[in-house]
Amino acid sequence: MKIAFAGKGGSGKTTLSSLFVRHLAARRVPVLAVDADINQHLGTALGLPEEEAAALPAMGARLPLIKEYLRGTNPRIPSAEAMIKTTPPGTGSRLLRITEDNPVHDACARRVRLDPGGAPGHASTGAPGGAPGDTVRLMVTGPFTEKDLGVACYHSKVGAVELYLNHLVDGRDEYVVVDMTAGSDSFASGMFTRFDMTFLVAEPTRKGVAVYRQYKEYARDWGVALRVIGNKVQGPEDLDFLRAETGDDLLAAVGHSDWVRALEKGRPRPFTELAEADREALRVMYGAADASYGRRDRERYTRQMVHFHLRNAESWGNARTGTDLAAQVDPSFVLGETAARAPQPV
Ligand SMILES: Nc1ncnc2c1ncn2[C@@H]1O[C@H](COP(=O)(O)OP(=O)(O)OP(=O)(O)O)[C@@H](O)[C@H]1O
Ligand SMILES: [Mg+2]
Repeated sequence: MKIAFAGKGGSGKTTLSSLFVRHLAARRVPVLAVDADINQHLGTALGLPEEEAAALPAMGARLPLIKEYLRGTNPRIPSAEAMIKTTPPGTGSRLLRITEDNPVHDACARRVRLDPGGAPGHASTGAPGGAPGDTVRLMVTGPFTEKDLGVACYHSKVGAVELYLNHLVDGRDEYVVVDMTAGSDSFASGMFTRFDMTFLVAEPTRKGVAVYRQYKEYARDWGVALRVIGNKVQGPEDLDFLRAETGDDLLAAVGHSDWVRALEKGRPRPFTELAEADREALRVMYGAADASYGRRDRERYTRQMVHFHLRNAESWGNARTGTDLAAQVDPSFVLGETAARAPQPV
């Protein structure tokens, strides 16, 4: 299950992503966390010390390796250089599973150990042992520079995540949780259509719901499942405001959390001490995410990735690579759970 957290800057995307990841991990659901935000804070929100978070391998710097692995023996993709961030998989491409070991995970993912047994203490990477529910895998795009912003192509670091998601075959009881960057980058590339569920994090403010409205328009056009999660909601008036502005899209609300504040102070508390109302919000979110499985449409999913590929090919990709990238599309290919069972190139 592919879940995105989007919303205005500072609304709490990273915080709610990390709480949702912890909730899944506590329920022993395999989960891979992905930091695709401009401000890379998911690692520390999961409890990693700053130095360890800063030392995480950047997916953006490993694009050649990712492309080389994913193209496999796909005859339509003669080289990694000919692959752009929207190049769709086809016959011969290598597909990815969330829980497997593969060269992409080896290069880009690190295990983060959440507070062992719910006891206070920092997480750390690569720590051996511990029950499966105590660790999650984390991948990061890498920090953005001024240069990256507004460059809707090739070098765009989120492109690595888009490639990853477009080659991923995920079942119902395994999760990828992506902390997204708000706004136009994800709309330009089609990344926002790659999720089973998008949680739009909104504070009860006019600016918070303005981002929701913009997202909602794109969501409607592309059949994206979008639900609003209120954050820093401090009472009935806040809740009334969100309900009035977002209607039935409002799924759950998280309060201003002492637990989160304690973590920010470097005094983490066991996850079991999160306020009951916030735990309930996480349960509701998990339920909504899980229910979205039944609405999957693999053909539409594949069609959309082809659509965005052709759009990128025409607007810059063909010129950049000097080839007709439309030829990369395998018309008979549909990405689905059965596709993963087809023989894989070695
Ligand atoms: N429910 C909450 N209770 C207490 N503090 C919160 C809560 N949600 C977020 N915060 C705090 O608000 C700040 C912004 O949250 P966060 O970093 O999660 O937002 P963001 O949307 O990821 O921001 P950015 O756009 O900068 O990535 C952080 O200091 C975080 O600890
Ligand atoms: Mg953030």
